[in-house]
Amino acid sequence: MRILAIETSCDETAAAVLECQGGPTNTQYKILSNIVSSQIKIHAQWGGVVPNLARREHEKNLVPILLRALKKAKISINEKRKVKSEKTRLKIQKILEREQELQKYFLKKVLPIATPDINAIAVTFGPGLEPALWTGINFAKTLSAVWDKPLIPVNHLEGHIVSSIMRGREFDTTEISFPALALLVSGGHTELVLMKKWLDYKTIGKTRDDAVGEAFDKVAKLLNLGYPGGPIISKRASLGNPKNILLPRPMINSADLDFSFSGLKTAVLYAVRKEKSISAQKISDYAASFQKAATDVLVSKTLRAIKKYHPRTVLLGGGVSANQELRTKMREQLKRAFPKIKLLLPEQKFTGDNAAMIAAAGYLRYANRKIRKNPLSLKAEGSLKFMI
Ligand code: KG4
Ligand code: ZN
Repeated sequence: MRILAIETSCDETAAAVLECQGGPTNTQYKILSNIVSSQIKIHAQWGGVVPNLARREHEKNLVPILLRALKKAKISINEKRKVKSEKTRLKIQKILEREQELQKYFLKKVLPIATPDINAIAVTFGPGLEPALWTGINFAKTLSAVWDKPLIPVNHLEGHIVSSIMRGREFDTTEISFPALALLVSGGHTELVLMKKWLDYKTIGKTRDDAVGEAFDKVAKLLNLGYPGGPIISKRASLGNPKNILLPRPMINSADLDFSFSGLKTAVLYAVRKEKSISAQKISDYAASFQKAATDVLVSKTLRAIKKYHPRTVLLGGGVSANQELRTKMREQLKRAFPKIKLLLPEQKFTGDNAAMIAAAGYLRYANRKIRKNPLSLKAEGSLKFMI
């Protein structure tokens, strides 16, 4: 079956179509299209994501991104809708009551086309920025109502978990042997999640304050390097020497599996404040030292979790999983200490937010009949936790 997915949890507007078949233990996927439109340039001016700006951009982008995703998947959108009843128009106006601009584009560009050849619609409903999430949810609800297709609510983090098996255009769920341990690292999350099987998640450790991606972003800001911090810090880190600056590794020796990154960020702030002047080389040294401290903690806590839970697969997901030092360190240390464990690192192009991972996770829910009975009651859940 074909799943169309919509993702708007943060500053990426994304739509994708995947062909999916099989049960949860042996699902086969084929990506037919995967379109992502990034708003980075808009938010960079403000030094971080501004929720209401994100919402406005999603409103503008959703219709063109949807049409591109359908076109790329070779799903016909040329055929015209035969009957355009007043009832349908009113329905659209009601669901998109608060998204006036999106409503305008919907009535103009989506309503006139005949129902495309897809079977279900998946949408991210949390965690994320609520104003941003709502736009995608209301758009997906409208599509579901007008096209009469089931709506599948998807947890964004479940999407990042699935992204670890996405290899090129075709992939399947047999890549993961259970139990599996997931390290989810993004702008909003730093979590260790234990999976006994698909759709069975338990958070066994998480950050007590800042997410690691947030720490990358804040450190980049205080070093005047711009936004988003992750890619810039890692670039500068390759020019620096981590040994020139001493930074703490918060909670690295604590017996639990929790993290803390706000102290590390503050340590950088205080050290930078003490500098009379700061050369370009010194900035690179700070970037290298911060990156090393952050990734040391992530890898060390993952190893601690492995010792406790004995997973057969370890996987990474989320924007920070793009970090080369984290990937290399995790690979090397796992190889040395636990050579039998399989490590799954998402391909670089799937580390950031995308809708292909939402479609893939959505299918797993659909195959388990976890669809929405009453799509219209779906709500955005900014701080959604893992659900089983
Ligand atoms: O998953 P994601 O795209 O969005 C959220 O769900 O938050 O993650 C974005 C985060 C940002 O904080 C960004 O700075 C970080 O991922 N990031 C990186 C790298 N690329 C992106 N952090 C470290 N190294 C990178 N190469
Ligand atoms: Zn994300």
